[in-house]
Amino acid sequence: MLDALTHVPSLYDRVRRVIPPAEWAGFTDDIDAILELKRRHNAVILAHNYQTPEIFHCVSDIVGDSLALAREAQNVDADIIVMAGVHFMAETAKLLNPAKRVLMPDMQAGCSLADSITAADVRLLRQRYPGVPVVTYVNTSAAVKAESDLCCTSGNARRIVEGLGTDRVIMIPDEYLAQNIANETGITMITWAGHCEVHERFTPDEIRRIRAEHPGVVVLAHPECPPEVVAEADFSGSTAHMSDYVASGKASRVVLITECSMSDNLAVQHPEVEFIRPCNLCPHMKRITLPSLRRCLETLTTEVIIEPHLAVRARRAVERMLAA
Ligand code: 13P
Ligand code: SF4
Repeated sequence: MLDALTHVPSLYDRVRRVIPPAEWAGFTDDIDAILELKRRHNAVILAHNYQTPEIFHCVSDIVGDSLALAREAQNVDADIIVMAGVHFMAETAKLLNPAKRVLMPDMQAGCSLADSITAADVRLLRQRYPGVPVVTYVNTSAAVKAESDLCCTSGNARRIVEGLGTDRVIMIPDEYLAQNIANETGITMITWAGHCEVHERFTPDEIRRIRAEHPGVVVLAHPECPPEVVAEADFSGSTAHMSDYVASGKASRVVLITECSMSDNLAVQHPEVEFIRPCNLCPHMKRITLPSLRRCLETLTTEVIIEPHLAVRARRAVERMLAA
């Protein structure tokens, strides 16, 4: 425990630009406990870019976008993986690590995209469009992945659909991601009316207003945004692509058209960049907190279980994506 305690002051140095001292004082007890519990149980925490800075920068072992978390989940040595992210991310980690215990701090941390489609819906689409390949966004349940040919993330969607070599693709369930990739590639997308409840709220007007109020701002938009929003942006890419853009030093003033914590986490790493902060919160991502992570590691619950008959088929779709 002493060892963990000595970490805490230097941890604060990492996040002092985005977490005021009074707020930090409320975090230290949980951070100490989480660091100690991880050691005791040989556990690692994987955190998505939308996690808050005290989680992202202070207790996590592996951080990144959905693609990076899936890739890294394959290489984890620890006995236990705790997902600081949403349920589909934990399922993906479990699919790629069937022998390990994968824990979710809050099973209610879902996703509006994952909730928009069922396995039966995918079977109906296949019947309606026989022979057209089915590319499923990772933001789906294992049952939906099991009905799919392969998965994609926003980080590799273009490469995955172009790699199929067909002029039509069933790309589900994110209608806007499919339309944005169709605009980039010219491939005809048969899609689904699923939307991210965070990204669908941004509007072109909002971007025009930001440009007027903050001259020279570079606008980076996530491809889950509606196509008319992406059209107003200077760059569109996954959360990892946005991080890379900021790290490239090409912009001194940026706005990230995505979830709020993304700017906080990047502001920690890039004090030289000014972040304009209109953003939308993901209520699912925000269910993961230091107390919920601590409770998860204290009780070793709740474990993600995937029925074996689904897991075999869903794993195939994820592995095909990673191999593509
Ligand atoms: P990426 O991190 O893969 O860009 O995904 C964004 C997202 O909304 C995950 O829930
Ligand atoms: Fe789902 Fe959107 Fe939240 Fe990501 S940000 S978990 S896509 S609702």
